[in-house]
Amino acid sequence: MLAPLAGMSPAETESYLEIPPEPEMGEYAFPCFVLARRFKQSPKDISAALARQIKPGGLLEKTISSGPYLNFYVRRPALAAGVLSAALEKGENYGFLSDGEGQTVLIDYSAPNIAKPFSVGHLRSTVIGNALYRLYKSLGYRVVGINHLGDWGTQFGKLIVAFQRWGEQALLEKEPVQYLFQLYVRFHKEAEANPELDEEARLKFRELEKGDPEALEIWQRFRKLSLDEFQRLYNFMGISFDSYLGESFYNDMLEETIRLAREKGLAKESEGALVADLEPYGLPSCLLQKKDGAALYITRDLTAAIYRYEKYRFSKLFYVVGSEQTLHFKQMFKILELMGFPWAKNCVHVPFGLIRFKDGRMSTREGNVIFLEDVLDRSIKLAHSIIQEKNPDLEDKESAARAVGLGAVIFGDLLNDRIKDVEFDWDSVLDFSGETAPYVQYAHARICSILRRAGTDFTGNFSPGKTAFSFLPLAENLTAPEEEQLIITISRFSEQIKRAAEELKPSILAHYLVVLAREFNKFYHACPVLTAEGNSKTARLLLIQGVRTVLSNGLSLLGISAPEEM
Ligand code: ARG
Repeated sequence: MLAPLAGMSPAETESYLEIPPEPEMGEYAFPCFVLARRFKQSPKDISAALARQIKPGGLLEKTISSGPYLNFYVRRPALAAGVLSAALEKGENYGFLSDGEGQTVLIDYSAPNIAKPFSVGHLRSTVIGNALYRLYKSLGYRVVGINHLGDWGTQFGKLIVAFQRWGEQALLEKEPVQYLFQLYVRFHKEAEANPELDEEARLKFRELEKGDPEALEIWQRFRKLSLDEFQRLYNFMGISFDSYLGESFYNDMLEETIRLAREKGLAKESEGALVADLEPYGLPSCLLQKKDGAALYITRDLTAAIYRYEKYRFSKLFYVVGSEQTLHFKQMFKILELMGFPWAKNCVHVPFGLIRFKDGRMSTREGNVIFLEDVLDRSIKLAHSIIQEKNPDLEDKESAARAVGLGAVIFGDLLNDRIKDVEFDWDSVLDFSGETAPYVQYAHARICSILRRAGTDFTGNFSPGKTAFSFLPLAENLTAPEEEQLIITISRFSEQIKRAAEELKPSILAHYLVVLAREFNKFYHACPVLTAEGNSKTARLLLIQGVRTVLSNGLSLLGISAPEEM
């Protein structure tokens, strides 16, 4: 109703809506500044005029002009009936939308390097990428998750040399990733004393590039064993990909990319190597091909982007990769643009900061690396001992500890502003009363337990399929401030999903879930559920059922499970 008066589309109007700082100011506010130019009036006058013109009705109880803002007040019982009936009816799809229908979004994430350990450095890409994957899916997009494995590069020359000199097949099979990593570290140590090793490795990689069967066979073995191990880890975390096409997949297509770059006058010869001159665009130039003909990381990335566009016609391609690669992506997107691909503007780097433990930054070369698997094990063990202490009678402590331990690590990462570095602290990520997964999961489990005690048929006549209208008499019971607040927060779930996806910030959803869990705890303190009477009891059960749905759907969008007991 505001849109036509403001002369905007509903979507545009919605994009300006704000949530007022105080509950007394209504549920939504429209800042009239944005109309001042169009109407050539002061925002205050516009706000007053709009308030006079908008007629209450439906969900809208009233509008009040407050200076330059127009505040909207939602009719609570109608809102409650709508929200609670939808939550009950849609269940595990509640909150999800279909805005993205017909559009394809590609997400390039995780992308560990074969034969180097999956360090916690890759953790952020994996959990942020997975959350974005789920968020976009819930908005109706077709989403393709791509694991651009680092399965090619000079490190394979080193590894093959190391394996041929010192390797043992049995050890390789037992713990491939760890073992290859040890060989890698040993290679670097020995090469310090014996620099010829480096030259030998360089030649070995050339052989591999030329397709030498023995070198290829060893490379295949490394790749397969490492990938199996990565996949075990992904399964364990509940993460899957639609494509595992790694860097090596593009080997045969690189020449075409180079040809195109030359044709567009982009690639200049310089001392036998090929260079893309980006200086006119304020970027450092970069190598596309080395003197010896070897291609580079960026050449493979350019080729992959072109291949992906051909295959998927994406409307967005997100690269979830650490901020240390910002320049790489700037250069790459610029080259794609100069090559004449209009879709280059739809390629987006989604950077993130480092993750630090007390030990400082991890480095693969020196060997003082922290393995993701060790991090997860540790978290699950800690979760297990906390659960043991809090709920000694719980039957299946193992699976609860797994959900809580994994959840704590994932949430501990996602809650942070993506761009900032994360300081990982065990006490805080597992704190059951902090801004953590266990806190949110605990609220969820608590609701499950209340609902269990209430029995299964509390919803009685209010079964799915009933119209929101039939919920009104019940909803009228929910008048305590804590109840009203919960309803408003539940009603904002879709909005939060949309914002988190559009701004590429899962942290928005993570914070929202903490707030909802906190409001539930407040409510539970103030409003008894099981001892309430009649309609009030049913209404409260319905309300916490709605909270439960949002907590579990929200956690699931972040890639975290919500155990019913813990
Ligand atoms: N394997 C790379 C690394 O560990 C990340 C690859 C990211 N994806 C891409 N298309 N460049 O640094």
